[in-house]
Amino acid sequence: MPELGVCYYPEHWPEEMWPRDAQRMAETGIKWVRIGEFAWSRLEPAPGAFTWDWLDRAIAVLAGASLKVVLGTPSATPPRWMLDRFPDMLAHDDQGRPRQFGSRRHYSHAHDGYRAAAAAMCAALGARYGRDPRVAAWQIDNEYGCHDTTLCYAPVSRDAFRNWLGAKYQSIDALNRHWGNVFWSMEYRSFDEVELPNLTVTQPNPAHELDFRRFSSDMVVEWNAAQVRALRPLTEAPLIHNFMGRTLEFDHFAMGRDLDIASWDSYPLGFLSDRLEATDAHRAAFLQQGDPDFQAFHHDLYRSVGAGRWWVMEQQPGPVNWAPWNPAPLPGMVRLWALEAAAHGAEVISYFRWRQAPFAQEQMHAGLLRADDAPAPALAEARAAAEVLAQLPEPTDTPGTAALIFDYASDWMWKTLPQGQDFDYFRLVFSAYRALRRAGHSIDILPPDTDALARYDVILAPGLGLLPEALTERLAAAPGRAIVGPRTNLSTEHHGTRLPLGPALPGLDLTVTHVESLPPDHLRPVAGGGAVGHWLEHVEGGAEVLLATQTGVPVLSGGAGLSYVSAWPDDALWDRILGTQNPMPDGLRLRQTATHEFMINYAASPQSWNGQTVPPCDVVIRARL
Ligand code: GAL
Repeated sequence: MPELGVCYYPEHWPEEMWPRDAQRMAETGIKWVRIGEFAWSRLEPAPGAFTWDWLDRAIAVLAGASLKVVLGTPSATPPRWMLDRFPDMLAHDDQGRPRQFGSRRHYSHAHDGYRAAAAAMCAALGARYGRDPRVAAWQIDNEYGCHDTTLCYAPVSRDAFRNWLGAKYQSIDALNRHWGNVFWSMEYRSFDEVELPNLTVTQPNPAHELDFRRFSSDMVVEWNAAQVRALRPLTEAPLIHNFMGRTLEFDHFAMGRDLDIASWDSYPLGFLSDRLEATDAHRAAFLQQGDPDFQAFHHDLYRSVGAGRWWVMEQQPGPVNWAPWNPAPLPGMVRLWALEAAAHGAEVISYFRWRQAPFAQEQMHAGLLRADDAPAPALAEARAAAEVLAQLPEPTDTPGTAALIFDYASDWMWKTLPQGQDFDYFRLVFSAYRALRRAGHSIDILPPDTDALARYDVILAPGLGLLPEALTERLAAAPGRAIVGPRTNLSTEHHGTRLPLGPALPGLDLTVTHVESLPPDHLRPVAGGGAVGHWLEHVEGGAEVLLATQTGVPVLSGGAGLSYVSAWPDDALWDRILGTQNPMPDGLRLRQTATHEFMINYAASPQSWNGQTVPPCDVVIRARL
């Protein structure tokens, strides 16, 4: 059965409180406790002077209440003395300014010295707790990329970037040629002349910026791998990283290959407030529930990043502190979010945090308990969730009915060359995901190198900068419907224009001749219903036109097997493209596992679909026949 967890900071509380805390966690139905991920200054107050005693006792107290421990490596919070040792380890922002000590994540992934120090800390933790059965899982670092920390413009990053480029291109002539540096006399004479692509007078060369983003992603993946290498030999317990929502600056699939389990932080109300495009009406309708598709999208994504094994490491329990506005969840939502995660296959759903901190940056952030130790509203809901979870079977990785191809590098390409101010890869992919959800699909989000496409009724591949040959062949061969585009396979590896012009799909005589980007709310109506916005490609060729704008510009071409969408569809047009006859109502969503069907209602009113009514902020779970 899926299990509940909680994030706990024993170092924040007097030791006398620990036993009662552990007891109350167990009584709530909690099985896992994550600790330690920010505790470096207490684990090693001075270089080489380790103080394990308090952690030994904390683990003993938690295990004494039959709780399993997830131990975090504390590299997201290098202590102040680390800066004395490595004064150049601070990350720099895109204005070239060092990011100061006084919060967290203040390090450059390219700094070899700090990377080695973090790996050494892993080795020390692993030597002490690696074989301790009470430590049942490890979390490496915390939330790579959070607080805008993937792209670093420090001198150490510049030097590492030059080395990375040297290894990739071998000769500076090759770099000049591939980047097209003859343009604007940007040619270099040696790798030592290449700077980072910030502070240029106008737009830097997109090829330069794309390589910088690829390099930056590699730095994060390598940083994590250094800790994996230190811990692996010392423990049999699974290694996890705790990812974030809508964070695309590094390739999570690449990192996932080094991990055993992927986890992420689900803050539905914070996300709706701070990182999602939405109409005012949508924000108002879901202010206290969160967006009905955003959590599901990440559950499906992280299931894929973890190759089937994934957790929610932090689940919102009440108002957070970091979004522009921080409402409280409607009654039922704290339970609903946990059950929804279970519906998508989570092994563990862990609330953040046990008790609200009465000090420092997050004192306004709710917990399962209030700062005065009384239960917060979330505690009873967590207990209610635990009761339902106890009735469910072990999560299995059941294939869905639809697949969506997701590619981090495509986001970097369109960030670097957006062409329309609000062209955003995630936004495009998410609109496709929503459309699949309205159609009632259970969805798998897959990397471009997936070889699993033969199982799905429908496959969507929007916005892929490059379409690898193997993927092209698999899409063409898939027995289900494969719908590719828009803005797919129009570019080269070095971010130039693909020649001959794309999308070059097998069996589809179709060429994109030129594109238009459109300002917000400028919609071009499509004949028969729906519209396109943001992006419209003009195509030529003999492929059959299936849908076109009212003025006759094709927007969907091809056949029943493989087709190409040459514009950014609005919701109604996506529904037409998918042939959705009976879209699910706003807020109501479906997810099927091998054994159960979950109908999840994010709406504040009852919602019905196909004869089933679900109360507001509630979940109906039925065994599948
Ligand atoms: C997460 C982070 C936690 C805590 C939480 C607050 O992003 O991992 O440490 O800051 O947000 O919501």
